[in-house]
Amino acid sequence: MTLPEASSATVQVDATQQGHAVSPLLWGIFFEEINHAGQGGLYSQLVSNTNFEYVDFYPWTPQSSANNVYLSLSQDQPMNYKNLQHLQVSFTSAAATGAVGINNPGFFGMTFEANAQYTVSLFSYADSAQPLPADATFFIALLDGSGNSVAKSSPATIARGGWAQFRTTLTAPSNTVVNGSLSIIFSSSLVTPTITLHFDVISLLPVEGWHGLPFIRSDLGQMIYDLSPAFVRFPGGCYVEGDTLDHRFNWKNTIGALETRPGHYDLWDYYSEDGLGFLEYLLFIEQLSTAQGTYVEPIWVINNGVSHADSIPTQDIYPWIVDALESLDFAMGDSSTKYGAMRAALGHPAPFPINIMAIGNEDCGKPYYLENYKEFYTAIKQAYPNMTLIANCDLTSSGGKNELWDFHTYQNTQWFFDNLKQWDSYSRSAAKVFESEYAVTSGCGQGNVNAGIAEAAYMTGLERNSDVVLLASYAPLLVNANDRKWNPDAIVFNSYQAYGTPSYWVQHMFSNAQKDTAWGTQYVLPSTSSGSNYLAVSSTIATLSSISTSYYIIVKAVNYDTANALNLNVSLSLKSGLVTGGVVQVQSLYSASVNDENTFQNPQLIAPKDSTVSIVSNAFSLTLPPYSAHIFRVLVSN
Ligand code: AHR
Repeated sequence: MTLPEASSATVQVDATQQGHAVSPLLWGIFFEEINHAGQGGLYSQLVSNTNFEYVDFYPWTPQSSANNVYLSLSQDQPMNYKNLQHLQVSFTSAAATGAVGINNPGFFGMTFEANAQYTVSLFSYADSAQPLPADATFFIALLDGSGNSVAKSSPATIARGGWAQFRTTLTAPSNTVVNGSLSIIFSSSLVTPTITLHFDVISLLPVEGWHGLPFIRSDLGQMIYDLSPAFVRFPGGCYVEGDTLDHRFNWKNTIGALETRPGHYDLWDYYSEDGLGFLEYLLFIEQLSTAQGTYVEPIWVINNGVSHADSIPTQDIYPWIVDALESLDFAMGDSSTKYGAMRAALGHPAPFPINIMAIGNEDCGKPYYLENYKEFYTAIKQAYPNMTLIANCDLTSSGGKNELWDFHTYQNTQWFFDNLKQWDSYSRSAAKVFESEYAVTSGCGQGNVNAGIAEAAYMTGLERNSDVVLLASYAPLLVNANDRKWNPDAIVFNSYQAYGTPSYWVQHMFSNAQKDTAWGTQYVLPSTSSGSNYLAVSSTIATLSSISTSYYIIVKAVNYDTANALNLNVSLSLKSGLVTGGVVQVQSLYSASVNDENTFQNPQLIAPKDSTVSIVSNAFSLTLPPYSAHIFRVLVSN
């Protein structure tokens, strides 16, 4: 790349003056069920519309060659009181050519990974005045994009009159299949106007999934893991509130067997079947902890009786508080509690420690929020004195108890540059801040360099002020490119591909620079810069291990000048030791144009590039391309 004429700037890092500790929870993630982040995304369920509880049977259709199949929703003989509707299949004639059945294309096409095993499960029964013929059977077929069968089950008999479960394992072929689908094919003896078939909770899940969690799509689970999050805020967002309270995330409806989860309308305009329920979130976060080797904090966002359209008056809020406490019993209670026993019965007797909980989302201006917050605060604190509670805004002036308050910012790049230092002057004795949602949302394409580098510049300010901003997470995390409800997002995927936007890579760089260089706590170092109005810097120091006297100095530098490169000279005042190997490890993010984006065709056009630069007499120089972000790691040995 040909660089324009560069200006010069200097950075001086004083490693003799260790500042405050970098918050160990600083870089985390916010998972919200938006953009099919879970349903049709991280939740690995391949069937779209498993339980037919929503308004129609879409996207189920008659098998393409079958013109005598009629589909409808039925409420006759529900499976249980939480599962009131199911799919009814009837036949207008017995005549048919080719396979007669029903088909589901999943969420914009199913992917069957090469040689992977899948668990298929469904419930069915047949209505017939006469006993069913002996050869009344169906089988499950996995189809490729051309409709050819690539795997199929043995024939299964169908029961007359009462629900029965069919469950088997299918193995995908040796080549990965994309744009596939699932069909249920009926024996010809079933295809007659005198027989009606009923199906419900038709599920197709991988046997393996991510790290042994069948319900987690492995590539997306891995991309999240690669961010090394210190916490996971979940499951929303507005999703927690709902457009109405009936559509909130009602955790009790999300636990237990799939056939007892009714699902609910997601205000991001699709139906969440809640296969990714409260337990699955906790299991995923637990597995992130196990895989990372450090505890990943679950930050459970509870609805406190406030939605976008309605609010529970404080005088009636008591049952909601009980519900919140029961959610904590479910996560952490022992088997003497109803919900702790339920968790144990679901296979997880060990608790999932929850130390941080958010009460509502963006609700400060809504009726009863502040009053309800106080009631929740008092009750939760009484039961869990060490729980850190997050309010939706700074409640100091309204007399609320404020341990952490939630700050959201979706702005243009100029706002991010203008606010690089917004927390520098924040009172050190004021309530601490959780910046749980931030992103550049205009001039961002569908996730471009313009956005990512501005966020990187802003994040230097978050790190420098992480004595008051204790936690931060980009938002939203995930988008299925086939149904983009919010733009931009960190991870873009379809049913068989996924890539990170530049914003993803910025999160990746900052988070991993904290996690992979430090044994314990990192500390902020004072750094001063001069020579450029477009330079954002922060510096930290990290000890390598409990016994090592070696340490890293980590400098983050962002040149947010879109037009000019910057010749940067960095000098370090060391408290002791010598730079190991005389080199600085450099990780850089930039591209030829601020409008550049990663795509499915070119998923790593913009990704961190590694290089080294020599360091002599504790100083090094390099040219920062226009609009670029960099992390320098200097290893010092005593
Ligand atoms: O991140 C998308 C939405 O933005 C969240 O649901 C909400 O909290 C905010 O308004």
